[in-house]
Amino acid sequence: MNLRRFVVMGGAILAAFLFSVWLNAPDLDLDPIAPANLASATTEQVRAGEYLVRVGNCAGCHTAQGGPPFAGGRAIDTPFGAVYSSNLTPHDETGLGRWTDADFYRAMRHGRSKDDRWLSPVFPYTSYTNLTRADSDAIFAWLRALPPVDRAQPEATLRSPYELQLATRVWRALYFKPATDAAIAAMDRGQYLVEGLGHCGACHTPRDDRGGPIAASRYMGGEIAGLSWDALPLAGLGDDPHDPEGQELAALLKTGVHSRAAVAGPMAEVVFNSLQYLRDDDLAAIVSYLRRLPKAEPPAAPRVPRVSDDERAALRKRGATIYGEHCAECHGDDGEGQPRQYPALAGSRLVTAVSATNALRLTLDGGFPPSTDGNPYPYGMPPFSQALSRADIAAVLTYIRSEWGNDAPAVSVVEVERR
Ligand code: HEC
Ligand code: HEC
Ligand code: HEC
Repeated sequence: MNLRRFVVMGGAILAAFLFSVWLNAPDLDLDPIAPANLASATTEQVRAGEYLVRVGNCAGCHTAQGGPPFAGGRAIDTPFGAVYSSNLTPHDETGLGRWTDADFYRAMRHGRSKDDRWLSPVFPYTSYTNLTRADSDAIFAWLRALPPVDRAQPEATLRSPYELQLATRVWRALYFKPATDAAIAAMDRGQYLVEGLGHCGACHTPRDDRGGPIAASRYMGGEIAGLSWDALPLAGLGDDPHDPEGQELAALLKTGVHSRAAVAGPMAEVVFNSLQYLRDDDLAAIVSYLRRLPKAEPPAAPRVPRVSDDERAALRKRGATIYGEHCAECHGDDGEGQPRQYPALAGSRLVTAVSATNALRLTLDGGFPPSTDGNPYPYGMPPFSQALSRADIAAVLTYIRSEWGNDAPAVSVVEVERR
């Protein structure tokens, strides 16, 4: 072997070695972890854990449709393919049976599995990293008390190169920094719940095309990739003229409805699984924090086909007729709705969002706010995908987005047909 080849090969081997060290390295600020002490889990801890599991909505992802609770296997779609949730029951082979509370805390704080695997950020450890050790231990104590279920986590079906540990490692280097105890201690209760267990930013902070949160647009809403729904901006909720004290917002999170609005789609699930169980003090803390969120840069508006002025006028005219025939009986002649039954369309943040995605989803598929203690029998909205043509739907959406003082862009027939 000549010297040059030798040097090149040596360099390559060294680079590969350094690279593998980086790939497998522990996070730099991985704190030393206390040894497990499970026998000491108290009833109080287990009870606290139950509440925290609800607030974190672990069941929402870790229970497959019709599957045993917390045994995982639910597919979570991303633009890069599907990732399946894992089994959180204490089964020795397929669940957390052999985990210690320290392993569990490491997964929540650092996004690493017991076997050192870098976990996919679909598991929102970018938020759960803000959990205190005590809360992590309580959650673990509660999960340990579940009946063990034998159910292996299905392999993710990500397209290349996203299936590689390397891709996850790079993603983490770009977008994830584990929390520090000092940073957590500096948070008030509302911030702790919103930034941590509540993982509100997982949907409400828009993402770039690598699936990373866009820091400059924190909590400004945007399309939730893989869901065909937009999260609405949370920043700016404090300026709502209809809600000077935040009571309406509290009612919306707790019961799914308030006097002018209702939650829908994925947010209805969040309220159903999680937020309706909030204690009053935690609810008040969350509302107070949300109302203080600063406004940030709005995410880039989706590209939609342009609508000419003539076309818009024609859509509005036709839309007025359709609205009178199909919508006014519930939403009112002036879009005023019925308190707690039918949301107002006049002034609705959902209706006037730059993107018509949510209004379109609801009009095509219909929907129900969640059934909660505070609103056990919600009124539903019928689906119109059969009853109305695509052109009619474009017309009625254009109408509700530009009537009663609403001022949002028109919706073309092409945009409706694309769905
Ligand atoms: C948005 C969906 C989602 C939510 C909400 C969620 N998880 Fe997960 N979780 C996942 C996915 C997906 C994985 C698998 C990640 C992987 O395999 O890379 C996972 C993995 C985990 C793991 C690692 C398991 C292992 O074998 O390495 C733990 C521990 C965990 N989740 C606990 C929780 C807890 C506790 C909660 C509630 C506080 C929770 N998760 C909420 C989606 C979610
Ligand atoms: C799984 C994704 C998801 C998560 C997680 C999520 N949201 Fe939402 N949220 C949505 C979507 C989608 C909408 C728009 C539909 C609607 O208004 O109901 C929404 C709407 C809202 C609205 C109504 C805004 C308005 O202007 O009317 C509020 C308030 C809200 N979310 C608060 C929260 C809070 C607080 C959290 C965390 C505890 C949270 N969301 C977590 C998806 C999510
Ligand atoms: C039978 C009563 C009923 C009729 C008829 C009806 N809706 Fe609704 N609508 C509802 C209910 C209930 C909701 C709340 C659904 C939810 O939260 O999932 C709703 C929600 C909406 C929303 C979301 C508003 C917001 O701020 O959250 C839009 C947009 C909407 N409807 C448009 C329409 C249009 C357009 C028509 C006519 C083509 C129509 N609706 C007909 C009952 C109705």
